[in-house]
Amino acid sequence: MLTHFISLNDLTADQFRDLLAVAAYLKRRRAQGILESALAGKTLAMVFEKPSLRTRLSFEVAMTELGGRSLYIRGEEVGMGVREPTRDVARVLSRYVQGIMARVFKHQSILDLAAHGSVPVINGLSDECHPCQALADFLTIQEHLGAITGLRVVFIGDANNVARSLARAAVLAGSQLVLACPKNYAFTQADIASFGSAWGKQVIQVHDPVEAVAGAHVLYSDVWTSMGQEAEKAERLQAFHGYQINDTLIAKARGDVRIMHCLPAHRDEEITDSAVDHQRSIIFDQAENRMHAQKAILRLLMASDGAAVIAAART
Ligand code: CP
Ligand code: NVA
Repeated sequence: MLTHFISLNDLTADQFRDLLAVAAYLKRRRAQGILESALAGKTLAMVFEKPSLRTRLSFEVAMTELGGRSLYIRGEEVGMGVREPTRDVARVLSRYVQGIMARVFKHQSILDLAAHGSVPVINGLSDECHPCQALADFLTIQEHLGAITGLRVVFIGDANNVARSLARAAVLAGSQLVLACPKNYAFTQADIASFGSAWGKQVIQVHDPVEAVAGAHVLYSDVWTSMGQEAEKAERLQAFHGYQINDTLIAKARGDVRIMHCLPAHRDEEITDSAVDHQRSIIFDQAENRMHAQKAILRLLMASDGAAVIAAART
């Protein structure tokens, strides 16, 4: 059973598939009008050091629909590592709530919350990874492509938090992640090692987006300048010129290619209006699936019937 949800690097392929199965099961049940109060009486504290629309709202609604509550806490107010040590925040929150979700600048803050608290910790995005996003992405891929294995998922852009989690998810799923990025914005050797696949096997890097998209089942994009990197914006705009998902690039992929983006999108920078709104865009399904994927995470981490819900989801 899972203790925390911090990075997909910590998950086995079976755990990843169980989470996807539970997410799909809870989504089906919700569509049938069935909501179970598996987290009645439980509270999730949500600490946000950075802005959010999807992560905040999807966790809040997920907790409400699971019969529990969520508390939104601004990072500046808590001041983890500034007003008081993160380990003390972890200990105090653990006396009030049954789970902590945090969006942080430094991945170490998530690790400190988990190391010093006594309740499950969920990573709602750090500088290192965005595991909730990649779980929702593969739920969306499964729905639209009918499989998660044997696919060529092409990420055009920066080897950032979203790309790292997507690469690890592709490895867990038995698919391939191809990163097309400018020089100096690629995965490091350590990144590749952390994904658990040999260099060049399931995670491939190229610099030419046209080469990358040949045979692609999925084209994926994210902002070129992530939250916390604003000082590099001008330099990044220049470096990523030519790495845009647009109609010309889409035409070079498979005819049934799906377009994905974690959002928020900077339309006409990393992706054009027409690509976001393309008939093959599944971007807003991705956004919806954050809620279903996170319900699975919450259910398996915070409810007492994790094994039973996995068994129900598998049937
Ligand atoms: N994709 C994502 O995490 O969106 P928010 O930043 O709005 O939460
Ligand atoms: N890479 C982006 C993702 C936003 C959801 C960022 O970190 O800002």
